[in-house]
Amino acid sequence: MRKSSLVAKLLGTFTIIIGISFIITATVLSFWFQDYHFQQRKDQLDSEGKFIATAAISHLNQQKEDTLDELLGLMNFVSKSMNADILVTDYRGIVYAVTNSQDSDLIFTKLDITAMDLLQKGQPVEERNVKNKSSGRTEYIYYKPMFLGNQFSGVIIMVTPLSQIKEPLKKVYTIIWLSAILALILSSIVIYYFSEKILINPLGKINVAAKRIAKGEVENRVYINSNDEIGELAKSFNIMADSLEEVEKNRREFISNVSHELRSPITSIKGFIAGILDGIIPKDKENYYLTIAYDEIQRLARLVNDLLDLSAMEAGKLKLNISKIDVNEILKHCVINSEHKIKTKKLKVDVVLEGDNLYALGDRDRLIQVITNLIDNAIKYCNENGNLKVITKSRGSKVLVSVYNDGPGIPEIEMKYIWDRFYKSDKSRTNKISTGLGLPIVRHILNLHGEDIWVENKTVDFGVTFTFTLKKI
Ligand SMILES: Nc1ncnc2c1ncn2[C@@H]1O[C@H](COP(=O)(O)OP(=O)(O)OP(=O)(O)O)[C@@H](O)[C@H]1O
Ligand SMILES: [Mg+2]
Repeated sequence: MRKSSLVAKLLGTFTIIIGISFIITATVLSFWFQDYHFQQRKDQLDSEGKFIATAAISHLNQQKEDTLDELLGLMNFVSKSMNADILVTDYRGIVYAVTNSQDSDLIFTKLDITAMDLLQKGQPVEERNVKNKSSGRTEYIYYKPMFLGNQFSGVIIMVTPLSQIKEPLKKVYTIIWLSAILALILSSIVIYYFSEKILINPLGKINVAAKRIAKGEVENRVYINSNDEIGELAKSFNIMADSLEEVEKNRREFISNVSHELRSPITSIKGFIAGILDGIIPKDKENYYLTIAYDEIQRLARLVNDLLDLSAMEAGKLKLNISKIDVNEILKHCVINSEHKIKTKKLKVDVVLEGDNLYALGDRDRLIQVITNLIDNAIKYCNENGNLKVITKSRGSKVLVSVYNDGPGIPEIEMKYIWDRFYKSDKSRTNKISTGLGLPIVRHILNLHGEDIWVENKTVDFGVTFTFTLKKI
């Protein structure tokens, strides 16, 4: 439906443009040809007139019966061959010879020739559309002056009905207009063919691919190899399809990750509770298994909270509550909160803070979430009896916060993946309470603050430092 309407519009526009140019060309050509035709007629009459003039002058000189006959004979001959009535007058305009018997009553009458003064100066005169009062027809009249030496001695008047002159013109007009129409039809066909090939077919391909992608076949692409805007459109379309495919892949991965993360705790909780209900688990072990189930439920709750946080951040719905905060105080608070885990793993903690208070701008609760995540990671990936170090310092307009831990560094190839949702390296090393959502959340929160975070291995295989920035006050 749309396709044919585009062709129709294009074709309509082109046809109008070409039609107009053909009409202009044909009109100009017709006028030019008419002019050319009249010019030719004039030239013919002029050259034939010369013979008549010679005979007329000779008759004027001799004034004899036979010279007049000679003149009339010549006039009749020219009249027949040129299809024109011929009259000859003397210098006053008095007619003395005619070819058409109907004009014989004009003999010895004085004609009222309007352009007499021009003729007397030796200039031939033509009149193209003269209405003849007696016959009612339109005529072409050519006046040719005659001279004897320098003396004006009369006029030859040659009259042709206009219809007769225009007869051959009509044929030429028909040919001109027919070829214009033919050319119009041919060019429309050519335009149709090319617009179909250059525009409509490629657009159709893109359209088909777009519809397939909309149906979920995101691997569809268009293959158009033209070096023009359509080719450009096809390229952009494919780039869009690539990113759609990427998004779709991410979505599928995300769903499968989430389901996977949800399934394992639910399965174990279900198992323990069923065991207790069935009495398979002995009474004295019930507490132990309920504690495990409780941990699993806590893990589930944390997972769901993290997911909600992340999706709120990605949807741009999370609003920060920015205020003046004391970075040193927040850091101490977080270390104290993790004391239990630190003691369990027998870690040594070094807290190096710049000044008593270090003020910056930020959302207190969200920054506690950031630091807690980083300290959690540091504890989790630190070797037993290892070292932990938290540092604050100011650099220009920024406050830098670093969290360092001993232990194997992060392999170079993993560096760019650790910020991805659900990315967990070396599954055996991470304990059960691991979802791979910590760092993506951390980075999102800092991005919302307009700040940076980066990670460095202290040496190639020992120790990791995460550092982030805040706006200093
Ligand atoms: N301090 C660290 N030392 C070594 N590797 C780390 C450290 N921090 C993070 N990583 C690596 O980055 C990965 C992603 O960290 P992230 O905090 O996002 O997930 P997680 O700690 O595995 O799970 P979660 O934080 O959701 O409980 C970790 O699995 C780990 O491989
Ligand atoms: Mg973590």
